[in-house]
Amino acid sequence: MGKIRRIGVFTSGGDSPGMNAAIRAVVRTGLHHGLEVMGIMRGYQGMIEDDIIPLPTSAVSNIVQRGGTILKSARSKEFMTAEGRQKAYNNLQKNKIDAVVAIGGDGTFKGALEFTNQYQDIQMIGLPGTIDNDLYGTDFCIGYDTAINTAMEAIDKIRDTAASHDRLFFVEVMGRDAGFIALRSGLGGGAEAVLVPEYETDIDALIAKLDKGKHGKKTSSIVVVAEGDDAGGAFEIAALVKQKLDYYDIKITVLGHVQRGGNPTCMDRVLASRLGAAAVKALLEGQNRVMAGVIHKDVVFTPFEKAVKHHVEMNMDLLNLVDILSHS
Ligand code: F6P
Repeated sequence: MGKIRRIGVFTSGGDSPGMNAAIRAVVRTGLHHGLEVMGIMRGYQGMIEDDIIPLPTSAVSNIVQRGGTILKSARSKEFMTAEGRQKAYNNLQKNKIDAVVAIGGDGTFKGALEFTNQYQDIQMIGLPGTIDNDLYGTDFCIGYDTAINTAMEAIDKIRDTAASHDRLFFVEVMGRDAGFIALRSGLGGGAEAVLVPEYETDIDALIAKLDKGKHGKKTSSIVVVAEGDDAGGAFEIAALVKQKLDYYDIKITVLGHVQRGGNPTCMDRVLASRLGAAAVKALLEGQNRVMAGVIHKDVVFTPFEKAVKHHVEMNMDLLNLVDILSHS
């Protein structure tokens, strides 16, 4: 691989708060090292359609605090084909891009893996950007901290009204395949129970717990459900509970995409800034096909293969703690 003169950066998959801070860090670190930086719009789709723009320093002014992504994001079906990737490669060549920083989640790195298998002369480094926090090779993904605070603040608000009316609330949070948002926001929000896709939901045990709570001193309760839970979403689970505990006044709130937006927390901005800078330096040092992450405070690089294939274990102690601390 030759000397890097020009790099590209893009965001792909579900957006996450802090992606802009990461783009800014890539651009400014690149400029610091004398590189030109190009922005690839709408992820892999923009690469295929040659939607590529220069990113001077002014392009990333005043974005460190903004949610979403100035480069926009997409999920590209065409990039899953060899022909699509060929078009993308041709456009990177045409724009004289020697190396690329990809910011996204699981699907983004699967795409990066395919692409770098097919073409070896363009370097690629990934940054973990997903509110789901389900990538192996980092303690935290960019956007997760903001999302769990958004979810927890919503739970706090629901708790006010739940307590006023002595109600049972089921709050559904995002996480199609992962329960990390549910776990942290539920623990932080003092939920009675947290239901996650990683562990089989025991509906009878949940019903027994809620029944005990009602006959004890609890007048209101909150159950946090990850959208991908094996027993169904909040509506399905609430219906099962209502069948057995018809005395409960049950309400359901689905938080949805509110969790993907908003100004990133300081934690997310700092993480994004560190990782964006580390990615550019790593490219200059010749690193390729790896994702930058932070483990125990240090920046580490994990091969794309591992980042997408290894399962991220859920901390069972935290899940057990939800149960212990909601004692009735
Ligand atoms: O960003 C990850 C995620 O929020 C999942 O938890 C969720 O299921 C999915 O994205 C929804 O994405 P979209 O609305 O873009 O289809």
